[in-house]
Amino acid sequence: MEEELRTHINDVVKETDDDDPPALSSHALAALQEFLQEQSQSLANHETVETEGGGTGPGPESEVALVTEDWRLSQFWYEPETARTVAQEVNSLCNGSNYKVACIACPTLYAYLKNMNPDISAQLLEYDKRFEQYGSDFTYYDYNQPEDLPLELKHSYQVIVADPPYLSKECLEKVTQTISFLVRPQESYLLLLTGEVQRDRAAELLGLHPCNFRPQHSSKLGNEFRLFTNYDPGERLGGWEQEK
Ligand SMILES: C[S@@+](CC[C@H](N)C(=O)[O-])C[C@H]1O[C@@H](n2cnc3c(N)ncnc32)[C@H](O)[C@@H]1O
Repeated sequence: MEEELRTHINDVVKETDDDDPPALSSHALAALQEFLQEQSQSLANHETVETEGGGTGPGPESEVALVTEDWRLSQFWYEPETARTVAQEVNSLCNGSNYKVACIACPTLYAYLKNMNPDISAQLLEYDKRFEQYGSDFTYYDYNQPEDLPLELKHSYQVIVADPPYLSKECLEKVTQTISFLVRPQESYLLLLTGEVQRDRAAELLGLHPCNFRPQHSSKLGNEFRLFTNYDPGERLGGWEQEK
């Protein structure tokens, strides 16, 4: 859309006589309007999401600030309700323990989790460097180099949440390598948010089962999304789906 718009505007500028004010064709104008509408919707939907019951009432500390989605990076942020539910689950898992949490490619979850419990130890592994705003909690991560990570992260995390950028076998295999690198042996809780199409691979690679809770995204996606865990959540997250 941006490219199309630029082409239209360049054409207008080239064709316009120096003395005349530049005018957009009706096609360029329509493209511009559509672009501006998309931008303002995106900002309204994603930049700042107020959390429920922020504890200390309204104000910056009760808001979760998100950057605008970049679809070229396969960025689709969770609906606030989804982000809250998963953050609540992770927070409960950590309750009373000094567990460390790794959020692989799920910046919304990281933001909601820290908003819910600023004392929680959480690391965001992300490709998008806009999240460097989280300081030392941010680690640059490209799933194509699954173990190219700082050594101090190795076998350090009891809770790992991952939302891989792609629904391919290759992507899940590489993210699995990253999980193996990060996970603390013995006691570990894994949560994977991805498409239903990854169900069999999630079971084979990581021993995960689908929960009845259905993750939702702010942008409507064509694929059915699921939350898989390696532990029985009991009544939480809608419970594990019964075997068919
Ligand atoms: C499907 S989105 C998951 C976001 C999640 N739904 C949320 O709301 O936080 C995938 C994430 O993968 C990241 N990503 C894109 N390319 C990547 C890459 N090559 N390696 C690792 N992560 C990547 C995106 O920036 C995005 O945050």
